Amino acid sequence: MIRYARTSDHAAIEATLVAAFGRQDEADLVAQLRADEDCIFEMVAEEAGEVVGHILFSRLWADVFELYSALAPVAVRPDWHRQGLGSRLIRSGLESAREFGCFGILVLGDPVFYGRFGFTAEATRLVRAPYAGLAAFQALALEEDAFASAMSVTYPDAFHPKPMVPT
Ligand SMILES: CC(C)(COP(=O)(O)OP(=O)(O)OC[C@H]1O[C@@H](n2cnc3c(N)ncnc32)[C@H](O)[C@@H]1OP(=O)(O)O)[C@@H](O)C(=O)NCCC(=O)NCCS
Repeated sequence: MIRYARTSDHAAIEATLVAAFGRQDEADLVAQLRADEDCIFEMVAEEAGEVVGHILFSRLWADVFELYSALAPVAVRPDWHRQGLGSRLIRSGLESAREFGCFGILVLGDPVFYGRFGFTAEATRLVRAPYAGLAAFQALALEEDAFASAMSVTYPDAFHPKPMVPT
């Protein structure tokens, strides 16, 4: 079952992220996005009452009127890999993102994997962003022409290393 995440899922989501990525960084990113209220929505994959997968869509600041979102991260617990859960999380997430009014989605990841869902690096051609030019930087238009004009995009603070505080 794919459903929206609840606060009571947070511990299981953290465990899923740490198990999937083999490190704490993505769990910390998710916690920071929540703390900063930069998360649009999160979904989980639940199997037999247990959270085994997670996806998050955060807001982006584009210099245009419409809402754009970053898909990051998506994770499935390793013992559930290659059973279609990651794909279902992404497909459900994209459907919900459209309902939330997102015009376009940006992602940083494997082009072969994200290409299955329609993401292309080509679509980012006119997007000015910190990851511009990387093959892993891909976009999907949820509304026609979402990436047809030049735009600049700023990511939430949680994606950036913390600035040094002068002492
Ligand atoms: C990426 C991830 C979410 C995919 O979850 P999953 O439930 O295994 O995905 P699916 O079962 O829907 O797999 C869909 C297809 O993508 C392929 N695939 C899975 N992970 C992939 C990856 N990292 N790179 C390229 N292809 C991948 C699978 O082989 C599968 O192909 P197949 O149907 O031909 O076997 C999961 O592997 C994961 O949690 N990885 C660690 C975290 C991560 O790297 N997240 C993505 C970056 S934010």
